[in-house]
Amino acid sequence: MSSIIKSALSRRTLLKTYAAGAASLGMPAFLSSPAQAAGVREFSLKAAPGLVRLVPEPHGETPAWCYNGTVPGQQIRVRQGERLRIAVENGLAEETTVHWHGLRVPNAMDGVPHLNQPPIAPGGSFVYEFDAVDAGTFWYHPHQRSFEQVGRGLYGPLIVEEPEPPRIDRELVWVLDDWRLTKSAEISDDFGNGHDMSHNGRVGNTVTINGRVPDVLPVRNGERIRLRLINAANARIFGLDFQGHIPTVIALDGQPITPHAPAGGLVVLGPAMRADIMLDMTGRPGSRVSVIERFYRNLEYRLVDLAYDETPLRDTTPDWPVSLPANPLPEPDLAGAHRHEVIFNGGMMGGMVMAEMGGSMGEGSRAGMGGGMMGMMHRQGIWFVNGKAAEGHVLDPMLTLERDGSHVIAMTNATAWHHPIHLHGHSFRVISRNGEPTRHREWQDTVLIAPRERVEIAFVADNPGDWMFHCHILEHQAGGMMGVIRVA
Ligand code: C2O
Ligand code: CU
Repeated sequence: MSSIIKSALSRRTLLKTYAAGAASLGMPAFLSSPAQAAGVREFSLKAAPGLVRLVPEPHGETPAWCYNGTVPGQQIRVRQGERLRIAVENGLAEETTVHWHGLRVPNAMDGVPHLNQPPIAPGGSFVYEFDAVDAGTFWYHPHQRSFEQVGRGLYGPLIVEEPEPPRIDRELVWVLDDWRLTKSAEISDDFGNGHDMSHNGRVGNTVTINGRVPDVLPVRNGERIRLRLINAANARIFGLDFQGHIPTVIALDGQPITPHAPAGGLVVLGPAMRADIMLDMTGRPGSRVSVIERFYRNLEYRLVDLAYDETPLRDTTPDWPVSLPANPLPEPDLAGAHRHEVIFNGGMMGGMVMAEMGGSMGEGSRAGMGGGMMGMMHRQGIWFVNGKAAEGHVLDPMLTLERDGSHVIAMTNATAWHHPIHLHGHSFRVISRNGEPTRHREWQDTVLIAPRERVEIAFVADNPGDWMFHCHILEHQAGGMMGVIRVA
């Protein structure tokens, strides 16, 4: 974990320097406490039931589960290199934890119950502490029964600012979510049902931006907006079409990428994925442009309207540079990398895909399919990673990676569904799809794999410990689509 160690070291050096300075200035001891010297930023989050206004009047408010009373939870915002100390209190009637999605934190701070820490009991609390190693757009959410806890509203944005962010007029953070609401605006309580688990997860009927069904976003011609997108939905994949505007993608999953226009103009985000885009507002003053969400064929809808002011902000599109400084990620050595194979299978119509791909079902799959469809629905194991369906978070490692070595994991999606596959504790380069090298060799922590697709990722396993590796469609995860990767 060279980069993490490095930052810890520089922090220590910083500490020493600060302490020396404090002593020579005759400062009182409490001012030179390590916490202040290291630039520790303190936050507290309380998970508890609350009432939120997701949908406009005349609908009522929605009983949800919230951090500090809101959905999304409070935005945590720090600068790169700062240390976070976050006290989490559990006001729910069940156990919880918090996972800092995409942040490269030490294993004990990763928030997976039983694997990294004991779950936080109702009424209990836990203090997380780690350095913000990478700048970027991240988020936090529980890792305990996530399919229900996240689905009821427990999530929030975590932004780590670059030391010198690119020039913009305005920054917006959009946390996208998708809810299954009843007619009375209550959250439908059919969490984890067999149909959602074995198909494409809990896709809902109400999409929100920052916890509200959006209406209009006022903008001005000539304005440059940095939009940080976070998909906090259990299962919905978003494909955003900014109609006539050409978004420039500058980061994916928090990690800088060569600035480019997305393929087909569509910004695609599987669950848990993030994108930072630069949007130049080039529409006519006084006009309205709809942002359309069109990932699922024939199911497109208007997400929000961009409403242009009559007066432009400026006459020309800004020519300010948009690229972001790189984060301190170790570069994998592809020639000398260890190779590993991972196959995902299961789910409805999985057998057909396996036959078509010329493979045979794993041991677990046979067991799962053998009981017939009904048998399968009532069982935990619906999805399989290398033939095994996981139950609970304490698992024998499916792979053990040599620490500080370079590793390539080739992943095959032998199912009929998309899966956003997430690895904890690391970011990886996506190096190929179906044998074709990717254009940007993007760094991600969650990679969306299409049905029948084969994706290769590469990274240096520099963060020791047992790390979760799972599908971020939370019903798939609950249905067995996860494993543990050990770095030792
Ligand atoms: Cu966003 Cu294992 O989690
Ligand atoms: Cu999945």
